[in-house]
Formats: sequence, structure tokens, C-alpha cells
Amino acid sequence: MIRILICGIGGKMGANVRDVIAADPEAEVVCGVDIAATDCGTPVYTSFKDVREEVDAVIDFSSPAALRGELEWAKTKHVPVVLAATGYTARDLEYIKAAAEETAVFKTANFSIGINLLKKLVKEAALALGESFDIEITEKHHRLKADAPSGTALALAESANSAFGDEKKYVNGREGIVGKRGTEIGIHAVRGGTIVGEHEVMFAGDDEIITLSHSARSKKVFASGAVKAAKWICGKSAGLYGMEDMLG
Ligand SMILES: NC(=O)c1ccc[n+]([C@@H]2O[C@H](COP(=O)([O-])OP(=O)(O)OC[C@H]3O[C@@H](n4cnc5c(N)ncnc54)[C@H](O)[C@@H]3O)[C@@H](O)[C@H]2O)c1
Repeated sequence: MIRILICGIGGKMGANVRDVIAADPEAEVVCGVDIAATDCGTPVYTSFKDVREEVDAVIDFSSPAALRGELEWAKTKHVPVVLAATGYTARDLEYIKAAAEETAVFKTANFSIGINLLKKLVKEAALALGESFDIEITEKHHRLKADAPSGTALALAESANSAFGDEKKYVNGREGIVGKRGTEIGIHAVRGGTIVGEHEVMFAGDDEIITLSHSARSKKVFASGAVKAAKWICGKSAGLYGMEDMLG
């Protein structure tokens, strides 16, 4: 039985992870960490320093603000961490890389298998189509999402850009007299209602357009992926892991 701590246990994703684990005979939620008061049948702490339970893995669906306290605690206890929150800064990413030298860390902006396939297809399409097709990415999410563009849109942009030696710059939205399009990948964020997550990568050439897209229909797909990652990372040596490692 894998004992799991959920960071962000009181949030929407925290609730979905609880539901997935409740139906899983191989895992249990032993406690949570959340800055907001939460009543969910397990102990919930506002800080990692207060955690008393024995924990085999952490699943974090909170916010980048939790990162430092969480990783300091995980390094001391040698507990693997699944980082599922998004919006990390370049400094956060450096910090994550350094922490992964001391404990196992799994990080992905998107746990769906479909998105991970989409990343591969986008790179393949970019390699095949080359410079004569302009790449524009559009992501759509619910009205409460804190960060923009989504971590997944950035990951898709990186996949496309890897076909060009990472030489294209990213342009987030456009406004005013922007002039001719340059060597760039456009990224556009739409927010509204309860949209779970839509990502579309458009390759626009002369007189033809190719569009690759993914639509998440429920948050459960992300929660299931995170629980799978928590089981997979248990017992792994220190290092930074991602979906490619888990999916082989
Ligand atoms: N990787 C993925 O596949 C994936 C999928 C969906 C959402 N997400 C990301 O997961 C995160 C949470 O999404 P959500 O929809 O559940 O948001 P939410 O706002 O419903 O929940 C976030 C929870 O984290 C808590 N929290 C915030 N800051 C904290 C801190 N410093 N320490 C401890 N707890 C803290 C909040 O109180 C809240 O209960 C977001 O970053 C979102 O982008 C990732």
C-alpha cells in the first residue's frame, strides 16, 4: 500500500486525486498540505514542517508557492515528489533540478497520455513541414486558471521548437501594430467557464492548414496520471523524471 500526501488537497485537482485513490486498493491518502482550511477526512497541515505521518510519495496539485518548503522536506525525508502544479518560473525550475539530485522528482505540466502523444506528433509535423508553415498554439481553460499560457501550451511550443534547434521565439498573444510575422511561435490563451483544457497547434502554410488538437473532457484524466506516476516513482533513485520515462 503506497501512502500518499496530497499538496493542494483542498483544491479541485486535490479532490479528483482523492477520488482516484479511494478507488485504488494499492494506494491511500495519509494526509494533505494546504494553505486553506480543508475538511476531507485526513489530517491537513498548512506547512510540510508539521507533517507527522509516514509518507511514500507526494502528489502536488497546489501552486509554485509551495515548492520550496515541499522540496526541502522531501529532500530531508527522501520522499519522492510528483510535481503536477504549473506556472513555475525559470528560478523554480533550477531549484527543482537541484532538488532532484537529492530525491526523485517527477514533473509534467500534463498527465494525459493524449497530450504526450500530441507533443511527439507536433515535433514530427514541425520537422516535416519546416519553415514554410507558421506555427500558432491556442489553449483554452476554465475561468479560474491562475497561469497563462498553460504549461502544456509551453511544452507543445518546446516540442515544435526542438525541430528548429530551439531558435524560434515565443510570442504570447498579439496586440497593436505588430507588423510582419517573424521567426516565432504564437501562443494564445483563452479563459472562460469550466473548460477543462483544450490545446490546438496550427501549422499554417500557403493555401493549406494542418491542425493537431487535444481536448480533455474531465480532470480525472490528470488525477489518474498523477497517481500512476506516484506509484511509478516510489523506490526510484534521485533524479528528474517525466512522462517519457514513465511511458517508456
Ligand atoms: N499536470 C497536470 O496534468 C495538471 C492538470 C490540471 C491542473 N494542473 C495544475 O494543478 C494546480 C492546481 O489546480 P486546481 O484546479 O486544483 O487549483 P485549485 O485552486 O482548485 O487548488 C489549488 C489548491 O492548492 C492550495 N494551495 C495554494 N497555494 C498553496 C501553498 N503554497 N501550499 C499549499 N497549498 C496551496 C489551495 O489552497 C487550493 O486548495 C494548478 O497549477 C494547475 O495548473 C496540472
